[in-house]
Formats: sequence, C-alpha cells, structure tokens
Amino acid sequence: MRGIFITFEGIDGCGKSTVSKQVASILQERGKEVYHTLEPSENWLGQAVRRSYTEEISPYTELFIFMADRATHTERIKKELSAGKTVISDRYCDSSTAYQGALLHEPLAEQGIDSVEWIMKMNKTIIREPDITLLLDISPEISLKRVEGRGELSKFEKQDYLEKVRANYLRIAKAESRIKIIDADQPVDKVLAEVMKAIEEIL
Ligand code: TMP
Repeated sequence: MRGIFITFEGIDGCGKSTVSKQVASILQERGKEVYHTLEPSENWLGQAVRRSYTEEISPYTELFIFMADRATHTERIKKELSAGKTVISDRYCDSSTAYQGALLHEPLAEQGIDSVEWIMKMNKTIIREPDITLLLDISPEISLKRVEGRGELSKFEKQDYLEKVRANYLRIAKAESRIKIIDADQPVDKVLAEVMKAIEEIL
C-alpha cells in the first residue's frame, strides 16, 4: 500500500510548522505511520541552503540550490511513501515557485519568460506530486508581526516581497486542484479543524 503525500505551504509566519506537526500527531494517534519532514531538508544540501541565506548569491543560484535539495529530498519522500507511510512536508515544490518566482520575475520577464510557469515546469521534472497541499494564507502584515517576535528577520521576510510571494501562491492554487486554501488569520484550532477536514476528504 502506498502512503499519502501531504504538503504545507504559505508565507513566513503562517503557522504551517505548528499545524503540520499537529496533523502528524493526530494521524499517528489514528494508527498511521507518519514521516514528518521539511524543506530546506535536514541533509547536507538543506544545510547548504540555510548557509546561503546570509551570502550574496545570484538569484539563479538561490533557485537551483533549493531545487538540488528538493531532488534529493524527493528520493527520501518516495521511499517513505513506498513503505506505506503518510508523508507530511513543511514546504515543498510550491515554495520555490512562489518565492523564487517572485525573485526572478523581472530578470526572466526581460527574456520573455514567465518565472512562475518556468519554475513550475522545472519542479514537475523532479518532484513526487503531492496528493494534497494546504496553503495557509495570511496577509503579509500579520506574517511580519508574527515573525518579528522571533528575532532577526531573514532576507525573505520583507513586506513587498511577501506580497508578491502570496500573490504567486494564490496564482498556483488556481492552476493546481490539489491546493486547498485555508484562511490562517483565524485562531490555530480553527485552522487545524479546516486542515483536517480537507485531509479527511482525500483519505
Ligand atoms: P521556513 O521559514 O519554513 O524554515 O523556510 C525557510 C525560508 O526559505 C522561507 O523564508 C521560505 C524560503 N524558501 C524559499 O525561498 N524557496 C524554497 O524552495 C523553500 C523550500 C523555502
């Protein structure tokens, strides 16, 4: 029996790490074997991605290291799914489409290329398509209020950038029926209830 692949997406501070771990616990209590993972991953490529956050790098390098990490991470995900586990990933392919799609919008538009379409196509060649993706949607104002409380902001955590990332997420959601948009401005128990309802529909 093959397992189900669930991914969580959203801009920084949307609550996906908390909610994805809660979903993992609920499914485990119901007797499912769950592999909870995240991107950037925990292998050496994921560590290289984290190291790059503070480096001056080309936007293309930024895209390709996230992709390199994903290609290796996907092998592990496939293995866990073949063993019948439910795999939950906190971020996956849509993060690159949304974040690096925003970063590369202008340089690629100058070459007549739509960055979102281009990254989506590239993703398709390396990923295992998620069975369901929960997009935890919040406004960048709320996102930044939440992440500011955690200390220093990363290069990704700027309001105008997050507006573009959010718009990309909403655009991908229109194109991909696996993506369910959840209003994450609500209290976390309501978010969790909506997420569980969407997952139960596909189980
Ligand atoms: P995190 O806050 O969920 O740990 O994610 C780390 C940051 O990396 C977050 O700001 C989003 C960013 N990111 C991308 O820009 N592209 C990607 O493909 C992934 C997986 C994450």
